[in-house]
Amino acid sequence: MISVRAEIGRILIGKQLLRGIGKRCQALALTGQCTLISDSDVAPLFAERVKRSLSLAGFRSTSITIPAGEESKTLEQAGAICDRMIAAGLDSRSFVIGLGGGMIGDISGFVAAIYHRGIPHVQIPTTLLAMVDSSIGGKTGVDTRDGKNLIGVFHHPSLVINDVNVLKTLPRRQFNQGFAEIIKHAVIADAKMFRILQAWKAGAASSLQRLIERNIQIKSRIVTKDEQDRTGQRALLNFGHTVGHAIECAGNYRKFLHGEAVSLGIVAACAISVKRAGLPPDQGGAIVDVLRRFNLPTELPRSFPRKRILDAVKFDKKFESGKIRFVVTPRIGTARITNDVTLDDIREAVKQL
Ligand SMILES: NC(=O)c1ccc[n+]([C@@H]2O[C@H](COP(=O)([O-])OP(=O)(O)OC[C@H]3O[C@@H](n4cnc5c(N)ncnc54)[C@H](O)[C@@H]3O)[C@@H](O)[C@H]2O)c1
Ligand SMILES: [Zn+2]
Repeated sequence: MISVRAEIGRILIGKQLLRGIGKRCQALALTGQCTLISDSDVAPLFAERVKRSLSLAGFRSTSITIPAGEESKTLEQAGAICDRMIAAGLDSRSFVIGLGGGMIGDISGFVAAIYHRGIPHVQIPTTLLAMVDSSIGGKTGVDTRDGKNLIGVFHHPSLVINDVNVLKTLPRRQFNQGFAEIIKHAVIADAKMFRILQAWKAGAASSLQRLIERNIQIKSRIVTKDEQDRTGQRALLNFGHTVGHAIECAGNYRKFLHGEAVSLGIVAACAISVKRAGLPPDQGGAIVDVLRRFNLPTELPRSFPRKRILDAVKFDKKFESGKIRFVVTPRIGTARITNDVTLDDIREAVKQL
């Protein structure tokens, strides 16, 4: 087992960790009742194992299962969860365990942050994306009718338990989309990891654990420099996301998974980096090759409404005198923010997709 002591809480990575959860919560000096929040796809797979471990360690737990899918990540659902926790007698000494992907991580963290003005949150990520991205950095929250993650608070989990065995049941597309964020981390911060990805062979659990560890370190290092997302450091994590978010939106959040849209956004960001930041074209090509290697999309279907992507970028981002803040990579392993990118640059990059 690998234990990463990030400055922002404790993170474990290993196999067969679910059955030791009760003991790990004891070790954190958690004493009260807990609520196990999960979704309708994940709970039938793993909730019993977690509950058994909690009960063996003497914890009384209440299970709350919400429908799987982003539609559940709402203020109404968070309120309903709080009501059920009150009814079950959870108080300020209680704690929350979120068992699931990023959706459950975000809403369970939000509930933990607001319940009795904040109680501890333990996360058990069950998607690769949640392990390498959403469980790190303390952003919790819910969506509203008008947009994603518009309501939320910073609340770091006290403990994150990454059991790679749970990934075995993850659908292939969901698994692959986690690699978009991994490749993003390599491009913005770790040239050596990029070379590892270029030669990646699927299936070796121990190398997957090491890869997850490395990604957790990269994200926590960036987040620690800019915890509240104010100085611009954390914004580097948005590499590929300006166009990525716009593609997600233009596809009505149905056509592409987040990581797939980010993959396309990375391709666009590479083209813009070649033009505006001096990224050598062969390095841009190598990035696109690695995305392909992980079966991530690097081209838009011909019929995809490209104009809607541009509309979404314009709606989403502030253009000052025709220019936008944009994350570029001058060479693999580094990234910076530039204020020089124009809508035309983005239009051209999207046209090439
Ligand atoms: N807080 C952050 O910093 C941050 C960062 C990135 C993304 N996010 C959020 O994360 C969410 C996306 O997370 P996600 O991609 O993990 O999606 P998700 O949580 O919706 O999970 C995707 C699907 O996989 C199922 N699933 C999860 N684990 C499984 C397993 N082991 N076996 C079988 N099925 C499983 C889920 O039930 C769901 O149907 C979004 O809400 C996004 O806003 C947050
Ligand atoms: Zn992302």
